[in-house]
Amino acid sequence: MRAVVYLKPFEVGVEEVPDPRIEQPNDVIVRITSACICGSDLHMYEGRTAAEPGIVFGHENLGVIEEVGSGVTRLEQGDRVVMPFNVACGFCKNCLAGNTGFCLTVNPSGFAGGAYGYVAMGPYPGGQAEYLRVPYADFNCLPLPPGTDHEADYALLADIFPTGYHGCELAGVSPGETVAVYGAGPVGLMAAYSALLRGAARVFVVDRVPERLAKAAEIGAIPVDFSQGDPVAQIKEQTGGEGTDKGIDAVGYQATTRDGDREEPATVLNQLVQTVRPTGALGVPGLYVPSDPGGVDEHARQGMLLVAIGTLFEKGLRVGTGQANVKRYNRQLRDMITEGRAKPGFIVSHELPLEEAPLAYQKFDRRVEGYTKVILKPDTIL
Ligand SMILES: NC(=O)c1ccc[n+]([C@@H]2O[C@H](COP(=O)([O-])OP(=O)(O)OC[C@H]3O[C@@H](n4cnc5c(N)ncnc54)[C@H](O)[C@@H]3O)[C@@H](O)[C@H]2O)c1
Ligand SMILES: [Zn+2]
Ligand SMILES: [Zn+2]
Repeated sequence: MRAVVYLKPFEVGVEEVPDPRIEQPNDVIVRITSACICGSDLHMYEGRTAAEPGIVFGHENLGVIEEVGSGVTRLEQGDRVVMPFNVACGFCKNCLAGNTGFCLTVNPSGFAGGAYGYVAMGPYPGGQAEYLRVPYADFNCLPLPPGTDHEADYALLADIFPTGYHGCELAGVSPGETVAVYGAGPVGLMAAYSALLRGAARVFVVDRVPERLAKAAEIGAIPVDFSQGDPVAQIKEQTGGEGTDKGIDAVGYQATTRDGDREEPATVLNQLVQTVRPTGALGVPGLYVPSDPGGVDEHARQGMLLVAIGTLFEKGLRVGTGQANVKRYNRQLRDMITEGRAKPGFIVSHELPLEEAPLAYQKFDRRVEGYTKVILKPDTIL
């Protein structure tokens, strides 16, 4: 089959790889109809991780079941399904508590949590390909209505819609609150959208990319352009000097300076500590890593950042972070899409055949030409 394969930093190819097959009785094979490219894929694409050439990318996958293992009980060939990016068993201590992003079974390296097509997240090839093997399929496949309706909306259930929602959950966003979301990438826009769905009164979204800020305004959030001045001051000015009730970091360790020319990995965390009012809370779905060989200094290379812990303490702020437990929210968010109450697909900028992945990665990586969220369509033949 054809698949998107990592070749070297800043280069992926579309290559022939072996078809996946049923390996365990509880596996299914899914024929992929939509597979999104994610900001997290870029960490590998840019060569910032230990990802080896040859890895098939793709953890945001939707498709139709092609083949069913003998131990699968509730799925059939022809079912349309979307898979959480987390591969999870459903029966370990963490899965039972709903923390499927930290499954103790699926990652032979001993690290808690698994994912498709991702370095250090277990032996699961990605779904930017014609077919995908899904283990523990009864647990990991979320059934969708048959047909092709809402395809782009449902594809976002694999990661970024639940991840944005998770950011709100970590921060405890409640009706009537003010929220500051840093980052207007797909995760930030989904966090802002989720905050509004949860009844937030006002949501600020901070970024410097005009198309992304425009999307934030489109859904009723207040765009804050940090290239035009200190975002903390801009938000305080609009909240009577108080700051917001809640804050969400949807940027992570690749946060840049005002000009976007240099990374400053602790900037967003520190700005959030300033932005959120005393006794508020921060949700941090943005990614931070235990080691970053390309980090800006000796500490960053060891995954340690200078964060204003003193002010965090003084203000009594709570912080929640980590991989999203997609399974905790995907059924509810699916039903909101089905009933027309949520349309997250507004962030999808491009739907392209698999063959266009190399160019799409390049442009998405540079955040140019409105490349906000790309869905690859392996079933479209050029
Ligand atoms: N926790 C999870 O389960 C999970 C899941 C998916 C993605 N992520 C992580 O979430 C983060 C965002 O993902 P994405 O796909 O939206 O990525 P993205 O790179 O497309 O978006 C990040 C945005 O942050 C903006 N930005 C950079 N510096 C900034 C600053 N100082 N202030 C404000 N904005 C700034 C960029 O302009 C960009 O638009 C990444 O770190 C990704 O790895 C986490
Ligand atoms: Zn993702
Ligand atoms: Zn588990």
